[in-house]
This record gives sequence, C-alpha cells and structure tokens, in this order.
Amino acid sequence: MITSKRLQEIPPSGTVAISNLVSKMKAEGADIVSFSMGEPDFSTPSNIADACVESLRSGFTHYTPSTGIPELRKAVADYSRSKNGIPCDASNVLITPTKQALFMIALAYLDPGDEVLLPDPSWVSYEAHIRMTGAVPKYVTTSFDDGFVIDPEKVEAAATSKTKMVVINSPSNPTGCVQPESTIKGIADICVDRDIYALSDEIYENVIYGGRHVSIASMPGMFDRTITVSGLSKTYAMTGWRLGWAIAPAQDIVAINKLQSHSITCCTSFTQPAAVEAITGPQEEKDRMVETFRKRRDLALDLISEIPQLECNVPEGAFYLFPRCSIDMPSNELAERLLKEAKVAVTPGRAFGPAGEGFFRISYATGEDQIREGLSRIKKALASM
Ligand SMILES: Cc1ncc(COP(=O)(O)O)c(C=O)c1O
Repeated sequence: MITSKRLQEIPPSGTVAISNLVSKMKAEGADIVSFSMGEPDFSTPSNIADACVESLRSGFTHYTPSTGIPELRKAVADYSRSKNGIPCDASNVLITPTKQALFMIALAYLDPGDEVLLPDPSWVSYEAHIRMTGAVPKYVTTSFDDGFVIDPEKVEAAATSKTKMVVINSPSNPTGCVQPESTIKGIADICVDRDIYALSDEIYENVIYGGRHVSIASMPGMFDRTITVSGLSKTYAMTGWRLGWAIAPAQDIVAINKLQSHSITCCTSFTQPAAVEAITGPQEEKDRMVETFRKRRDLALDLISEIPQLECNVPEGAFYLFPRCSIDMPSNELAERLLKEAKVAVTPGRAFGPAGEGFFRISYATGEDQIREGLSRIKKALASM
C-alpha cells in the first residue's frame, strides 16, 4: 500500500491501539482489568437519550446547517459566556466532534514550517495533527515535581519568530493537572506580546475536583487569538455521540467551516437537539458522575501509596492518574509486561511525549472493584520485576 509521505510519518494513536488490543483480548476470554479507557463508564443521562429518541422519531433526520443547528450554537455560546467568561455569541460556535475540531483547526491555521508549542506530556493527537500539516511540534517540558503545571518562562524561552500557536489542555490528559489562573495569565501575556494563537482544549472542564477552570479566551486581548474546543463526551458520558464544538472569532469559524462542509458536511442531526438538552437541562446526573470520579480517584491514590515503586501527584481534574515508576524500564515495555503478566492495561507514559517516559497513565473511569483488583495486580507484578 502506498500512502502519502505526510501520513507515513504519523504513528497510529497509541491510546486507541491499546484500547483496541484490550477489546480483542477480552473478546478472546482474557481476564483483563482495563485502565486504558479515556471515557466515562456511565450511560448517558436519560433526559439526554430521551431527547435524542424524540428528535429521531419526529423525523429530524436530514442534513443540518454545517455549522450546527442555531439552538445548539446559541446554547453553547450562552454556556461558555456564563460559565467560562468567553465573550462569544452563536456566530462564534461551530458544532463538530471535538477531535474533528482539533484536526480541522490544525489544517485551518498551520502552514508547513510553523511551530506549535505544546506541553510535554500531553494528549497524543495534538502532535499528529500538527505534523499532518507540515508544521513542527515543539514540546515545553513540565515536571512531576511541579505537578505538571506549565511554566510560562519555559513557553517564552521556546517561542521563536516561527511560533504560530500554543496548545493548552486543562484539566490535562494524561496528568489531570488543572493549570492555575496565574499560568493561564502568563501564557496569555506571551500570546499577546508575540502575536501567537492559543488553542485551548477544555474537554475535561467539568471533571474537576479542586482548583478553578480558567478559559484563556476570557483573558484580556485573547478572544481574537484563541480557539477553544470542548464537548459533551467526558462531561455527560457521551463519547459515542461524537459531539463537541469549537469557539473562535466569527470569521475564523467561517474558515474552519469550509473544512467541515467539505468533509463531514455537518454533525448527525438528531443528536443536536439532545445536546441542547444536555447543556440546558438538569445537571444532577453530571454532578453525581463527577463525585463518583472523585471517590475513585481518592481510592486509587490510597492504593497507589501502598505500592513502593510508584509515586503520584493528586490531580485536580479529568479521570487519570499519572504515576512515576522507579523501575528502570522503558514505559512501553512496562505497559506491555503489565498487560501480559498482570493482565492490567495501562497506557505507557512515552505515548504522551518524551517527558512521559518513566510514567504510565491509569484511567479510573472504571468501577471500584476493578480499581482494587487492577492495583493489587500491579502491586504484585511490580514487586517481582
Ligand atoms: C484531551 C482530549 N482532547 C480531545 C479529546 C477528543 O474528544 P472526543 O472523543 O469527544 O472527540 C480527548 C479524548 O480522549 C482528549 O482526551
């Protein structure tokens, strides 16, 4: 098979590959505890599912405007303005799956040779999207000892005349770090001074236990140079619905929508009224899910504290732990051995960038019994390595 040179340089998604492997092993009967899934294990709240069924039955089954139905664009804008202080209206919103938004943003803003700063470690797909455009990812190292908080001085030091964009993801996948307001402000100042765009991935904005979620687009001078993405997947257990959004200046939305209209045309129609229900309807189930995640995080942290080879920060958001492992072994090999020998699936830290070496990611979006069993298996396996 001959693929483009551009594609040959892109590895497949490491996180999706592990999830696929785990599904295959489970289907073959293996007793696997999976800490690899980046998705809530709950069902979508019933008021949202009901709104979708109603919309489907009412015949709302045709193309929608490619930017999304007006009611949903407005609901997203109202929510983002009131909760996150982003000075937007419906014309600033494009309805699209969050990952698709990130991919289209890379295509819409980046030219070959442009440089993009991104935290190390960070979620796997940013680097792939950047490389697909011929732009160059440049990692800004964050460290365990600083709780993976980004140091704006390092951002400044990494910036050059070619820097086009800086990526922020708070709360972070894989570290769970919620970037403090002072950090966001520091990065905003650099963006304004140096005329750099910010791409702010806020998909975990509601899965937060401490700290305060701050949107960089709400900072002075930033709205015109920020693309904010978020969505329903993690907040409302709606990963399979493929619904999210991008928020940007109106003329940028028109530009990004060229890509949407030439690719997926629009999002699925009958899910969009249900997304309005998700955002504007009762929020109790969402709050219950977050509280359950918090309990699971605390349980997992307690159990990890009893494993001598591991140490872990207390993350304030998302549903991941990113422990450091004292065993001198590449994280890919460690993850492979944990899967084969302990039948526990974790994601190797190296999948998230060079600074992830020596770490692995645990998703605690799974039941308490699984958390106990999986960490007990990891404890035994590490003791014997
Ligand atoms: C940081 C981050 N951004 C974006 C996404 C993509 O979200 P979605 O699956 O809703 O497109 C994910 C999914 O895991 C993620 O972890």
